[in-house]
Amino acid sequence: MKCTLTSAAAAVALVIAGTHAAEVAQAGEQVSVLHWWTSGGESKAIRVLKDDMSKQGYEWKDFAVAGGSGTAAMTALKTQVISGNAPTAAQIKGPLIQDWADQGVLVTIDQAASDWKAHIPAQIDKDIKADGHYVAAPFSVHRINWLWINKADLDKVGGTPPTTWPEFFALADKFRAAGITAVAHGGQPWQDMTIWETVVLSQGAEFYRKALIDLDQKTLTSPQMVQVFETIQKIRTYFDKAYHGRDWNLATAMVISGAGGMQFMGDWAKGEFANANKKADVDFVCAPAPGTSNAYTYTADAFVFFQQNGKKDATPGQLAMAKTIMSPEFQEQFSLNKGSIPVRLDVPMDKFDSCAKKSRADEQATIKSGGFFPSLAFGELQSPVTAGAITDVVTNFMNSNEDAKEGVRKLAAAAKVK
Ligand code: GAL
Repeated sequence: MKCTLTSAAAAVALVIAGTHAAEVAQAGEQVSVLHWWTSGGESKAIRVLKDDMSKQGYEWKDFAVAGGSGTAAMTALKTQVISGNAPTAAQIKGPLIQDWADQGVLVTIDQAASDWKAHIPAQIDKDIKADGHYVAAPFSVHRINWLWINKADLDKVGGTPPTTWPEFFALADKFRAAGITAVAHGGQPWQDMTIWETVVLSQGAEFYRKALIDLDQKTLTSPQMVQVFETIQKIRTYFDKAYHGRDWNLATAMVISGAGGMQFMGDWAKGEFANANKKADVDFVCAPAPGTSNAYTYTADAFVFFQQNGKKDATPGQLAMAKTIMSPEFQEQFSLNKGSIPVRLDVPMDKFDSCAKKSRADEQATIKSGGFFPSLAFGELQSPVTAGAITDVVTNFMNSNEDAKEGVRKLAAAAKVK
C-alpha cells in the first residue's frame, strides 16, 4: 500500500494530530510496528492506533507476531534489528526497555512527552526512560492478579467469588460436580507463571517483595513457599485434560461459553469478554485472586522506537505515534477494548465497567500501601535470564509429579542464575 498525501489531506492531518508543524506526516512515511496483539480483543485495541495513525497520514505496516506474552515477538525483534531492519516501533516493556536502550539503537521521544511525568504512576515513568530521556510510550496498566468467573455457572452452583484458597477449592469442587471445567487454563510457561506468581502474591505483599523482587533466599526456601507449590499442585487438578499448549484466549473462551468456570489471567481477558459482547457483573465476574485483594501485580505495555536509516533523531511518525498513544482520547478507547486501565491518571473512568473502576481504585490504594508490584511473569521484574530460569522451574513443576520441597529447592537455585 502506498500512501500519497495531498496538501489538503496534510492540513487535515495537522488538525487531527494537533501537532507541531515539524511533526506533520511526511508523505508516505511508513511506520512498521512489531507487537503480539493478535487475539480478538487485542486486535481491536491495536486497530485504534492503526486507524489514528492512518488518519494522520501514516502508512501502517503491521508485524504482528502471535504468541501471548510476547516470547515469539521478542525473538522476531532481535532478528529484525540484527539484520538492519529495525521496526519503527516495537512492543517492549520492563527491564528490556533499558537493555535495548543500552544497545544504542533507540531514539528519544522527549519532544512528545512534555506532560507525561505529571500524569502517570511514578514507577512506570521510571521504566520508560533511559539516561533521563523518554524512550517508550506507555499504553495502559494491566492488573494480573484477577480471577475471571462465568456468572451463569456461579449462579448455577450457588457460589460466590472466593476470597481465600479454601473458598476457592470449595467453589472448584462445586463446578466439578456440575460437570464444568473448574479452572480453564492453557499449559504454556507464561500462563503457568501467571498462576504461580498470583499464589506467591496471596502470601502477602511483603512475601512477594522479598521473594520476587529481592530474591531473598530465606523467603524462597521458606515453608510458605512450599505451601505456594502445594497450592499450584492442587489447582492443577482442576484443569481439563486438553490444557497442554492451549492459548490463553481459548481458555478465556471456555469461561465465556461457560464450559470453564474460572480463569486466572490478566485483564486482557476482559478484552475477550468485551469482544464477545459480554458484560461485567451480568455475564462474568472479576475478583482479585484469593488472598490478593490488597495487592496489585501489573504489567504496562509500551512501544519503544528504533533509530531509522541510521539517524539518531525520532522521525515525525515516531513522535506522532508516541503522542497519540498518550493522548487521553486514545488512552480511553484503547483500554475499553483491551481490558486494561489507562496509564494516564487524568482519563475519566465513567465509560469503564466495574472491573476497570476497581482496578483503578486498587491501583491507587496499593501505590499508597506499597502493594503495587511489577509482574515477574510478564517481564516487568528481573533480567530475562533470571526470570527465564524461574519460569523453567515453575513450568516443569506444573507438568511433573515433583515434590513441593524439590520445587522450592530448584526455585532457590534458579533465583541465583544471572
Ligand atoms: C502481555 C501483554 C498484554 C497481553 C498479554 C497476552 O504480555 O502485556 O497486553 O497482550 O501479554 O498476549
